Amino acid sequence: MKLHHNPASPFVRMVNVTAHELGISDQIEKVATGEFLPDRVNKQVATDNPLGRIPALVTDHGTALYDSRVICEYLCHHAGDKALLPDEPVSRFRLLTLQALAVGLMDSGVGLRYETGLRPETMRWPEWIERQKVRIAAGLDDLEANWKDELAGVNCGSVATACLLGYLDFRYGDMGWRNGRSKLAAFYEGFAKRPSMMATNPPS
Ligand code: BEZ
Repeated sequence: MKLHHNPASPFVRMVNVTAHELGISDQIEKVATGEFLPDRVNKQVATDNPLGRIPALVTDHGTALYDSRVICEYLCHHAGDKALLPDEPVSRFRLLTLQALAVGLMDSGVGLRYETGLRPETMRWPEWIERQKVRIAAGLDDLEANWKDELAGVNCGSVATACLLGYLDFRYGDMGWRNGRSKLAAFYEGFAKRPSMMATNPPS
């Protein structure tokens, strides 16, 4: 399998952590995107994903898959795993919803990074920036309050949540997301020590 890859992306990290947890990361050849910017097409990635987004995975059958959620589901299927993404519907859809929450917050975090770190200052939109901050705070509060049981295990939802929190530490080290969220902080402290997370830390 071939994965279009950039180690700074939390979406890519979610795929890599999933592959590690499944014990199949050695089956994935990583193709580095190099500089990956939101205002231009990365032609190499666009060959396999017309959206030009990462991650994109090309299977050994030559099929291109995206986005990160579809790729994680494929990897579980490929590995014959039923623990990260169970078949039993109540657990399955609960975990997929947790994953969607974390991925939605990654969208806001990465969007905020582009807006505040890359977009020319005169073109920035303060109300939009504030909206992302409010969304991230609301999502983190929900993770603190409502997902204790799911975050106790290693599954597609807890993997996504850990990659989200790792990204917040990576790009927004002074945000203070742990303040008032002791359960979420304890979850991350434990999960971040997993070999899958240690092997996929973003660049410093
Ligand atoms: C980042 O540098 O924060 C980043 C890079 C690629 C994709 C997403 C985020």
